[in-house]
Amino acid sequence: MSEALDTIRDETEAAIAAAADLRALDAVRVAALGKSGRVTGLLKTLGALAPEERRSFGAAVNALKGEVERALDQRRTALEAAALEARLAAERMDVSLPPRPFPSAGAEAGAIHPISRTMEELIALFGAMGFAVAEGPDIEGDWYNFTALNIPAHHPARQDHDTFYLPAPKSGGDSPRPVLRTHTSPVQIRTMLAQEPPIRVIVPGRTWRADHDATHSPMFHQVEGLVIGRDITLGHLKGCLTDFLRAFFGIADLPVRFRSSYFPFTEPSMEVDIGWNRKTGELGAGGDWLEILGSGMVHPKVLANAGVDPKVWQGFAFGMGIERITMLKHGIPDLRPFYEADLRWLRHYGTSPLSPFNLHDAA
Ligand code: PHE
Repeated sequence: MSEALDTIRDETEAAIAAAADLRALDAVRVAALGKSGRVTGLLKTLGALAPEERRSFGAAVNALKGEVERALDQRRTALEAAALEARLAAERMDVSLPPRPFPSAGAEAGAIHPISRTMEELIALFGAMGFAVAEGPDIEGDWYNFTALNIPAHHPARQDHDTFYLPAPKSGGDSPRPVLRTHTSPVQIRTMLAQEPPIRVIVPGRTWRADHDATHSPMFHQVEGLVIGRDITLGHLKGCLTDFLRAFFGIADLPVRFRSSYFPFTEPSMEVDIGWNRKTGELGAGGDWLEILGSGMVHPKVLANAGVDPKVWQGFAFGMGIERITMLKHGIPDLRPFYEADLRWLRHYGTSPLSPFNLHDAA
């Protein structure tokens, strides 16, 4: 009997050691411990034995059963670890590889349009200064686009805007015609009516004026900015716009000049210029000035029109042409191809979603 035990132990342990994978190991388990396995078979003989013998033999068989189970467990753990190792080796991925070339070889890969790209940059840069994004409709009411912004019916600024008017609604009596918004400034009004100050938003969006040449398009884009608080000052306006312009153009010491100007909806009003070289078109140095945007402290009448108490709240606003800053940043000479969907132009001026905002940051 004990010889049979030793034989079973030796053969089973040899088979366990030889099992090359989990499936082979399971076959060994069944052969030893399964319903008609060899160890199970020994256990079945116990009933026929005398009590004395049954005790000692039973203990020996149970000890064997325990040994076989432990050996199976150990081997299973080892085989599982090996299987995992093999999978990890087969599925290894090098996360330090550089991105695939763009556009990938032979493929018609897309690129981000320069306008979309600049909008993303504006949202990221002003976002870092705590600005949220606000929106308004392209078809605007006369009151939002003009009147609420302190541009009354016969104000000359209305002529300046070369406005596209839409037909008045039939039931509208003699109410003013809707317009394609001539600037993003009406969203100042909408934002102040919709939310309590303090306010800090930018408004990137489409704008429209009946104007068409190499630097003007009937549809173009602006970004508006509005900051309202209890003690927002001209100093905040200057700091905010200086930081923005230097970050956007990627020139840490870009000269920035604030020049007195006039807008009906700001008081005082300022035009903002940046330093450049008129001859070479290079930004930053050269002693010439280039007008970049309009800005000012929000006129008290505008605050009041939008339901904000000018005795408690004050702030600044600015408006900037998105095509203009995009052309300057990337040296794009003509505005018209922005809207012509010419793939050669898009491939040249479009950017990869992965490329950094300022190309010199890539080095
Ligand atoms: N709305 C003005 C324009 O289109 C720009 C501007 C916005 C100026 C906000 C001052 C404040 O020219």
